[in-house]
Amino acid sequence: MGKVQLEDNDIKEKKTEFSLVQVKGTWKRKLGKVNKDTVDCVSAAKIYESITEKGATWTVVSPIVFTYKVTETQDLLDPINDTLLLGHLSDPQQVDDFKKSNNSIKRFVVIDQEVYKIYGPRLTHYLEANNVLYKIMALPTTEENKSMEMALKILEEVNSFSLDRRTEPIIAIGGGVCLDIVGLAASLYRRRTPYIRVPTTLLSYIDASVGAKTGVNFANCKNKLGAYIPPTAVFLDLSFIQTIPRRHIANGLAEMLKMALMKHRGLFELLEKHGRMLLDTKFQADNSVYGLSCLQAASQSTRIAITTMLEELAPNLWEDNLNRLVDFGHLISPALEMKVLPSLLHGEAVNIDMSYMVYVSKESGLLTEEEKQRIISCMVGLELPVWHEACTKELIQRSLQDRLKHSGGLVRMPLPVGLGKA
Ligand SMILES: NC(=O)c1ccc[n+]([C@@H]2O[C@H](COP(=O)([O-])OP(=O)(O)OC[C@H]3O[C@@H](n4cnc5c(N)ncnc54)[C@H](O)[C@@H]3O)[C@@H](O)[C@H]2O)c1
Ligand SMILES: [Zn+2]
Repeated sequence: MGKVQLEDNDIKEKKTEFSLVQVKGTWKRKLGKVNKDTVDCVSAAKIYESITEKGATWTVVSPIVFTYKVTETQDLLDPINDTLLLGHLSDPQQVDDFKKSNNSIKRFVVIDQEVYKIYGPRLTHYLEANNVLYKIMALPTTEENKSMEMALKILEEVNSFSLDRRTEPIIAIGGGVCLDIVGLAASLYRRRTPYIRVPTTLLSYIDASVGAKTGVNFANCKNKLGAYIPPTAVFLDLSFIQTIPRRHIANGLAEMLKMALMKHRGLFELLEKHGRMLLDTKFQADNSVYGLSCLQAASQSTRIAITTMLEELAPNLWEDNLNRLVDFGHLISPALEMKVLPSLLHGEAVNIDMSYMVYVSKESGLLTEEEKQRIISCMVGLELPVWHEACTKELIQRSLQDRLKHSGGLVRMPLPVGLGKA
């Protein structure tokens, strides 16, 4: 993870390699590689030492492993479902200990204000029924408020609530904005406090919640302040989606379409065929005339979107590799979204960017006319905008120049080269 590999010239420079082994509770350097069978504990970290006439240099290589769970659940706020409180624990012994102990669980919850209006009573009932010592902070976590001020406001309250930073994860419940702000606040508190994400919009269900990124807007730029610190767990309950407006379903479908166009033709065909039904039913099975086919389409499409996303994210959690398919739709959209805020939603801006790139692909001979038509029709069927007057040539040029600056001197545009291939 991160920059753990030694550069070629470091190796040429002849460094002395030390392993780190634990002996009677302290760590010691041991020259060279260590036979794991001969010591109690050997770290994956290494120290390389070079001594020249100018002095000594120690190069520390310390791999960092992140483990987090993304779990589907039903009735997350049913008091008998303990996922929200214990689902992040991976050791069954820890779960047992919790259940047996008489100590109250303590939780700090940050929830989007609109979500609180709908689910607040159920959340409160859930926490009380489980004897939790809690504080709920309901906040207007809108894109315009996605700022460091909001993160600091959360941190003030977290601080006075005095959490145990090892065992009491902060819970974030809301759309992508809420999850991004709380994730950043948690990453800052005591340098890294675990946090849990509960997405309540389609976009955050399939996208914002499953990766490692957190952030707030700064200096009029999208997510300019942020961290790559994943949550300790993500709990997915599709039933939250039933109360979001139709426009926000389409908004989430844009990020789903992104994964479809980049790497899954089957998902593209599913959206082409069932997009309308998914919009009508808001991904809810019990809603209606559509019955079982809706249940299947909802669960298949969300699962494919999440697994394809995780495939791209897990090997590149800190985005060191700049060739990222998940950046499709995110080249001109950040500037566009900020320029017209709040008139375009995130997924809408992403879709406009994608439709522009589909034309670029077609003009470059990477897509056929028929493929281009199918993609654009699918977008329109999903009720997504394919153009916006603020998406001017200047804005596009500026975005491309900006990308050039931040991605190692190459523009690195992911482009579709067929349906489900990039
Ligand atoms: N971290 C990441 O990897 C990542 C990925 C994609 C997007 N994002 C970020 O996510 C944000 C967009 O997320 P979003 O689309 O979820 O927007 P959002 O968080 O603004 O939520 C959209 C609206 O829906 C309301 N809402 C949320 N859940 C609801 C529910 N269940 N019922 C009724 N209303 C509900 C909210 O109050 C809000 O008004 C952007 O800021 C984007 O940058 C982050
Ligand atoms: Zn996005």
